Amino acid sequence: MLTPPLLSVENLTIAFPGKTGDSIVVDGVSFALNRGETVGVVGESGSGKSMTALSILRLIPEPGRVTGGTIALDGESILALTEKALRRVRGGRIAMIFQDPMTSLNPVFTIGEQIAEAVRLHRAEEGLTGKAAWDEAVNALRRVHIAEPERRAKQFPHELSGGMRQRVMIAMALACRPDVLLADEPTTALDVTVQAQILSLIRELQREIGMAVLLITHDLAVVAETCDRVIVLYAGKVMEMADAQSLFDDPKHPYTQGLLASLPENAPQGATRLTYIKGQPPTNPGKITGCPFRARCPKVIPGVCEKPLPTVQLEPGRMIRCHLFTESGNTEASHAER
Ligand SMILES: Nc1ncnc2c1ncn2[C@@H]1O[C@H](COP(=O)(O)OP(=O)(O)OP(=O)(O)O)[C@@H](O)[C@H]1O
Ligand SMILES: [Mg+2]
Repeated sequence: MLTPPLLSVENLTIAFPGKTGDSIVVDGVSFALNRGETVGVVGESGSGKSMTALSILRLIPEPGRVTGGTIALDGESILALTEKALRRVRGGRIAMIFQDPMTSLNPVFTIGEQIAEAVRLHRAEEGLTGKAAWDEAVNALRRVHIAEPERRAKQFPHELSGGMRQRVMIAMALACRPDVLLADEPTTALDVTVQAQILSLIRELQREIGMAVLLITHDLAVVAETCDRVIVLYAGKVMEMADAQSLFDDPKHPYTQGLLASLPENAPQGATRLTYIKGQPPTNPGKITGCPFRARCPKVIPGVCEKPLPTVQLEPGRMIRCHLFTESGNTEASHAER
């Protein structure tokens, strides 16, 4: 029998109910994450990156909900787990670094106590209980390069700087030695030096414990540097998926091409956000039939791109959703050029 991927997401759909019906914010997303690899998720603001990651831990904010698809860890459905079983997975086998560090830090407990508590919950069978769990928490702080970890462990989140809180969150995520790390913009709002330190720390621990990382970021330079594979999301749909090298060397989708064109090689770090492509993504992409990018696409083919969005497997591991790569698209494209 084939071994299932470590994490597999199939045909995931997420919706928020509204006055005029459901607003679909993630629409038919499928991908797999294998042990030890880093997969980047890129796309403009609102494309569904965070909702996809949150759904894996069943943390979509109310009233949003998963309306279709499956999410499985080692072949076992996460959506079917009991609350009790889910608590063991959360922070244990799957950890998440949130966009905002204060989301996962409790203001009324010291940071050392919070990390120790997570260690007690998830690593008791290794003998890490009581004082041993506290020592492991201090250790975790040391590993994220927090100076004087014994003293810092006794402080509360508000006593730390933003960059330090981010490291504490990473320390907490990694202290439980997860199989999967979901990192949602782990370095946004940090200065460049701290960013580089945190990314190299994630890589270091990844090599050490073999975890898989789903890395959500606006920053294509970070993706180029750290990811094995890349998922390009637009309006809740995967538009292109490829290994990182191929994607950067030869982006196929006009949307991916637009994103890469927004990367001025010599611009300062802050200027690499994905704001180049003219126009705005659709507000309720679920209502659009055909390609959701067509209104902004420089290569749009009228009469073709309104048809249902195709999924084209270009080669193993390389997928694109674009009419330009279908027979009707090619035919129309050659007509258009004449
Ligand atoms: N509580 C909510 N109610 C209704 N819609 C929501 C809610 N939270 C998010 N959404 C919608 O879901 C869509 C996807 O949001 P998501 O947070 O996943 O985007 P994102 O790709 O992570 O963006 P960013 O880069 O800004 O973090 C957005 O269009 C957003 O408007
Ligand atoms: Mg987000």
